[in-house]
Amino acid sequence: MKALRVMSVVGARPNFMKIGPLVRAIQDHNDRASTEGRRLLDHYLVHTGQHYDPAMSQSFFGSLDIPEPDVNLSVGSGTHAEQVGRTMIAFEKVVSEWKPDWVVVVGDVNATCACSITAKKERVNVAHIEAGLRSFDLTMPEEINRMVTDRLSDLLFTPDEFADLNLRDEGVPESRIKRVGNIMIDTLEQNLPTAEAIRIESILQESLIAPIGSRVLGFEDREFAVLTLHRPSNVDDPDVLIPLVRFLIDKLSVSLPMIWTLHPRTRKQLERFGLWEAVASCDRIFLVEPLGYLQMLRLNLGARLLLTDSGGLQEECCVTGTPCITLRENTERPVTLRENGGVCALAGNEVSRIEKVMAEQMELPRRQCRPPLWDGVTSRRVVEELSVL
Ligand code: UD1
Repeated sequence: MKALRVMSVVGARPNFMKIGPLVRAIQDHNDRASTEGRRLLDHYLVHTGQHYDPAMSQSFFGSLDIPEPDVNLSVGSGTHAEQVGRTMIAFEKVVSEWKPDWVVVVGDVNATCACSITAKKERVNVAHIEAGLRSFDLTMPEEINRMVTDRLSDLLFTPDEFADLNLRDEGVPESRIKRVGNIMIDTLEQNLPTAEAIRIESILQESLIAPIGSRVLGFEDREFAVLTLHRPSNVDDPDVLIPLVRFLIDKLSVSLPMIWTLHPRTRKQLERFGLWEAVASCDRIFLVEPLGYLQMLRLNLGARLLLTDSGGLQEECCVTGTPCITLRENTERPVTLRENGGVCALAGNEVSRIEKVMAEQMELPRRQCRPPLWDGVTSRRVVEELSVL
């Protein structure tokens, strides 16, 4: 039996924790395939290079034990059209040379969309992991990426029933929709014991940007908040970012010291809008470099409250049980919301609403919740489906 040629793609930070388990599940499958008389999967990993800082990219390959990519397209930053265009041009060459039977894309970043379009034009089948998520908000670049990718995909691996319903509503044939669960939870399960053993102080000692020289001893679990922020809608508009930062300095950090992991986009905008000095000199706000996966998971496990505009962190909070304030007007992950059994509450980016939601979320006990099939073995189900194609 000829091996099935599978090319998978990563581009930006949130992709790495989704591709790690897939690579391992393919290796496990191949280890057993010959004795079980099953089809081998020949795997080739492409990194588009959308994220390129070591802290945004390379550190994840080491800590999540992902093999070096077979090729890095080094597309780097740029406008959306530049990123997508450069990715398509470079990816077309790789596809036409390696000739995969399937291209597997994950998530909703520019790499996901660019590579699915290119693969289809090269008449290669596309499988999308994390298919069917919809915020119904076309001002979000990721929503466009999700819609285009799903429309072109031959196999749509979904994380939950909301995603299945969205795809059915769009007329996707039932035979293409495969509910497999959330592949990112595989990574979380595999890394939980290692993350639990990390000390919060050591994270701060290694990654603290400001306040410089501050005392980082004595951080107790449940006595701090964690913030991540990177969406253009939250950080690119001074009318949004300035009041938000004032709220963090004057109110939130006064109730709870806060660890803020800084995305490069956000750091640039804080500097551009003249906010850097005020944040960096606040002795209750601990600014840290973008963290590795294990360090971020450790902060999540210890936080009393997590505020974020990241989709992945909302999902991780459900499994860790940390009350989460989602700094967005909508979410493509409704399964994470309190009204659907999750731990997240939508708060937008307007200060009075965030304050109200914060008061409610502070009252909540930690409560873990796990939608069906978020069980740590999603990658095995994906590989099972691919191996019978
Ligand atoms: C991208 C994804 C988003 C994901 C996020 C996680 C798209 C459309 N967006 O947004 O879905 O949630 O990643 O991080 O694909 N930069 C660096 N170093 C890096 C990477 C980026 O300095 O390693 C800078 C870039 O120069 C740019 C800014 O950060 O100015 C934004 O990077 P970009 O890749 O355009 O988008 P993200 O906001 O990271």
